[in-house]
Amino acid sequence: MTRILQFGATGQLAREMLARQEGGVEVVALSRAQVDLTDPLAIARAVETAGDIDLVLNAAAYTAVDKAESEPDLAYAVNARAPEAMAKACQARGLPLIQISTDMVFDGEKTGAYVEDDATKPLHVYGASKLAGEQAVLGACDRALVARVSWLFSAHGQNFLQWFLKASQAGTPMRLVDDQRARPTASGDLAAFILSQADRLTRAPAGAPEWGLLHVVNDGVASRYGMAKTIFAMANPGQSPPPMEPVPTSAFPTPAKRALNAVLDSARMQRVFGIQLRPWEEAMEDALAGLAEPRTA
Ligand SMILES: NC(=O)c1ccc[n+]([C@@H]2O[C@H](COP(=O)([O-])OP(=O)(O)OC[C@H]3O[C@@H](n4cnc5c(N)ncnc54)[C@H](OP(=O)(O)O)[C@@H]3O)[C@@H](O)[C@H]2O)c1
Repeated sequence: MTRILQFGATGQLAREMLARQEGGVEVVALSRAQVDLTDPLAIARAVETAGDIDLVLNAAAYTAVDKAESEPDLAYAVNARAPEAMAKACQARGLPLIQISTDMVFDGEKTGAYVEDDATKPLHVYGASKLAGEQAVLGACDRALVARVSWLFSAHGQNFLQWFLKASQAGTPMRLVDDQRARPTASGDLAAFILSQADRLTRAPAGAPEWGLLHVVNDGVASRYGMAKTIFAMANPGQSPPPMEPVPTSAFPTPAKRALNAVLDSARMQRVFGIQLRPWEEAMEDALAGLAEPRTA
């Protein structure tokens, strides 16, 4: 049995981890009420006193990309200092740590998909705080995996799928950005990857190829407009969508500037773990099917 101590109980990834744990893996989740990530001492204590655990996963984060511009201290506390505290506590106990990061560490100026060792240059506070978290974790724990993911979606929680379904059911005309590109990633597929590799990770020594940065994204590239069209067609076969207008990013000024190219290359995952996540459209079909199912976590 592999026991994962998970920071975060209510987010998209956290819920998928709890819902999918089975067989050889048990997830012990700590909610905000149990450990607030702005309290590094509480984090250290939680790892120290967790008893019989094999792996720590940080499934929590400050994820309000635009709000972070006006709350930088909070964003850095949760996204940088909290994972640093986890990493130090893991190192002290000889435990491996999985930290989740984002495509938003890049500025989007590259032509082509980003690989793990491409130069980082975040465009905003959220991206910079997540990058600081990556660096702190990799600097403090020699068995740390930092998984960068993009545009997470799932049947539950706050994400683009939920927003779009509500808006389209209401028949609201929509303007959707069509010049930002990424690989939309199912939180469930991310959770399944972590759960399937948990045992392997507990046995990988420091210096093994499993550690370091890893891009974990579904296959295929989309814009928000492209995603919306696909979701509508899947959810409402044969029906006409409400008016949807593709617009450039410049039509939606946001406090945090978005990169146009957020496409991550996941070839390293294939090389190291022998895994390529399926096309995001297939995962979206499953997420849509999951909407009808009650929450299991
Ligand atoms: N969502 C995306 O599109 C996306 C894209 C790229 C990368 N990521 C990364 O993927 C990871 C998972 O994201 P997600 O979408 O699953 O996140 P999410 O749904 O936004 O959930 C965030 C979680 O963090 C918890 N949290 C926030 N502040 C906290 C604090 N001070 N103390 C304790 N818990 C706190 C929240 O708890 P409460 O419910 O109590 O607030 C919630 O459980 C994150 O590292 C995120 O940066 C996400």
